[in-house]
Amino acid sequence: MPAQQAEGSTKARLLDEIDAQEASRTTTGMAEFDRVLGGGIVAGSFILVGGDPGVGKSTLALQLAGRRPDLSILYCSGEESAGQIRQRATRMKLHAPRLHLFTETDITLIQQQAELLKPDLLIIDSIQTVFRPEITSMPGSVAQIRECAGLLMRLAKLTGLTTMVIGHVTKEGDLAGPRVLEHMVDVVLQFEGDKQLNYRLLRTLKNRFGRTQEVGVFEMRENGLRDVANPSELFLSGFTEGISGNAAACILEGNRAIILEVQALVTPASYGTPQRTASGYDQRRLQLLLAVLEKRLGYRFGDKDVFLNIAGGIRLQDTASDLALVSALVSSYLDRPVPEKTLLIGEVGLGAEIRQVSGLETRIREAAKSGFKIIYAPGSMSDALPSLPGTKVHFAGQLHQVNQRLFGPGG
Ligand code: TYD
Ligand code: MG
Repeated sequence: MPAQQAEGSTKARLLDEIDAQEASRTTTGMAEFDRVLGGGIVAGSFILVGGDPGVGKSTLALQLAGRRPDLSILYCSGEESAGQIRQRATRMKLHAPRLHLFTETDITLIQQQAELLKPDLLIIDSIQTVFRPEITSMPGSVAQIRECAGLLMRLAKLTGLTTMVIGHVTKEGDLAGPRVLEHMVDVVLQFEGDKQLNYRLLRTLKNRFGRTQEVGVFEMRENGLRDVANPSELFLSGFTEGISGNAAACILEGNRAIILEVQALVTPASYGTPQRTASGYDQRRLQLLLAVLEKRLGYRFGDKDVFLNIAGGIRLQDTASDLALVSALVSSYLDRPVPEKTLLIGEVGLGAEIRQVSGLETRIREAAKSGFKIIYAPGSMSDALPSLPGTKVHFAGQLHQVNQRLFGPGG
């Protein structure tokens, strides 16, 4: 990415005279990464990539170097030794002839190195490990993070150096950490994922050059990250239809619809208090949905154990998946499978009514793309939906209507 000219930054310029090319973008070589950046890295921008330790931030940075061997990259790591990084690069089969490794944490030395090398991209891994000796507080303290980031920012804006800073940020939002930088940087990305599982989500929390709420999906493999262009495929990979208790749900992650499988198992309780176990789902919400099924539709879960599992290990929070969850529960209860190629979309209210959801059209399009033929959607949303060939949408206002259609009389 060509460095922007620094001249002109000290005097006011007419808007019309500013070349639109100044915001030129460079691909990361990873479609999912480009997506969250709004189409690639903007030259001269300052990007913060946050995420839990171990989620894969360093891997993402190295992979970028591998995908763009033409770029000169200065990778400063205070996290690992040069030997460790070399080992990882070998494991990733990285070909990055223009990647410069600098295992130094003194920010003044990093700055000197950057000025000497004039790389296309500077990567700091991580902001918590760098420090300025003149400041007495420890690396990782708010004072050091602010000082070092301020220094890097000035360097970036003055010389047009594109900079990516990595920070450990827990999901809860460690306010004393790199989040203090969010207001000053151009782009804030958050890398998420359960370390036990292999998928990762990269979210845009802030973007001065594009949309927020974008989500990139990756799969962590033995040799690095793989772009997942079609997440539904990944999450539906083990989906077996025709088995009671299984149903497909559709969630929105950012602007993207993803279809995944939910599994319920309802069995007679063997001991006194019936069990309610939910994995990847809020236990209290499960209790609530069970209460609705009991009170409004007459199912008796009082003497049953209930297990709920969201396949693929995603944490399901989108209430539009209520209808799928409830259908999975009833399906297991009755021991009758949900009909094949059926997707259920809708929030379930306390009166067993099916309530509106956001992004219905996006969800239905994704369903059609993934081969679903029958879609149940909230009754109040029947207008303003385009018809999709090969897909039949049933609009239902009440849960019992859906149950009867799915499971027949007694359903
Ligand atoms: P890492 O990039 O070190 O995380 P972070 O920089 O966010 O702390 O990734 C750590 C995990 O990723 C580690 O547990 C091993 C795993 N991993 C793979 O599964 N495949 C790979 O190719 C690499 C490099 C790492
Ligand atoms: Mg790391």
